[in-house]
Amino acid sequence: MAFPRHRPRRLRVNESIRSLVRETGLVPQDFIYPLFVVHGKRVRREIASMPGNFHLSVDELVKEAEGAYNQGIPAVLLFGLPKKKDREGSESFKKAGIVQQAVRALKKELPDLYVITDVCLCEYTDHGHCGKIVDGRVDNDQTLKLLARQALTHAEAGVDMVAPSDMMDGRVAAIRQALDDEGFSRVALMSYAAKYGSAFYGPFREAADSAPAFGDRRSYQMDPANAREALREVAMDIEEGADIVMVKPAMAYLDVVRLVRERFDVPVAAYNVSGEFSMVKAAERLGWIEGRRVMMEILTSIKRAGADIIITYHAREAAEYLKHKL
Ligand code: PBG
Repeated sequence: MAFPRHRPRRLRVNESIRSLVRETGLVPQDFIYPLFVVHGKRVRREIASMPGNFHLSVDELVKEAEGAYNQGIPAVLLFGLPKKKDREGSESFKKAGIVQQAVRALKKELPDLYVITDVCLCEYTDHGHCGKIVDGRVDNDQTLKLLARQALTHAEAGVDMVAPSDMMDGRVAAIRQALDDEGFSRVALMSYAAKYGSAFYGPFREAADSAPAFGDRRSYQMDPANAREALREVAMDIEEGADIVMVKPAMAYLDVVRLVRERFDVPVAAYNVSGEFSMVKAAERLGWIEGRRVMMEILTSIKRAGADIIITYHAREAAEYLKHKL
């Protein structure tokens, strides 16, 4: 295959031929849209570090989710901000907790929208860690009980899928078991299987008010230097009953997305996290990049790396772009 007989540029002369040979296409059905729900009524407060994303009260959340659904985005991922935080994160497993209220409202108003909840304690604990603190450390096995309890209250509210993001060992099995024992075998589980201890979560911790009060998350989230370990984490979660496995963050971990895609046959999700999103917005504001094109390039790369599902704050903007462009 040598020049001059072969000229790759022949297949790039105009958009028509480029579109025929394009290997990776995006559709709104690839996206999960994360949303932050708060107490109150008619609250729609923009999150400063994440332009275009809001703290939404349940009434406003339903509107936002409906808008996304009408654009073809099939699913939302909910995060809750409680009224009060305490040591055990007890609002996370209250029947009338904010996420539980949100799930009930969404399933009532938009029954076909697929509702996923993040299952974790960090937004609900006064210390901001993802588990229960015992003797100054995040205790794995005691945390499992709280996570299972939280997942059950989401199931009772009617959630379609739960997504544990805490990175405790054994939490997929603990949650799956609790759901099955209580008659919720229909509820699916997406695990944040390879979740790295990443500085890319910075804006989220402002959005979810979940920065740890002491230390960091490195005793439970993965070391960014490790890829083989991700395969072990993913294998364990599938064994424990995960229906979908996730790699997080996405952009700086596309090699891990690819490795997971090649090794396993379950659907793979990648989380295009808050810091990845905010960097695009910030650089765009400074006039340094063309934000929309960079957004589409990033999302396309995540899909090209092998993700079936992309969790992204760009979901609505990207869906809008795809509608007019395609
Ligand atoms: C909760 C959780 C986090 C994110 C999703 N679930 C934050 C963290 O682990 O510190 C990050 C999402 C994002 O940055 O967009 N454990």
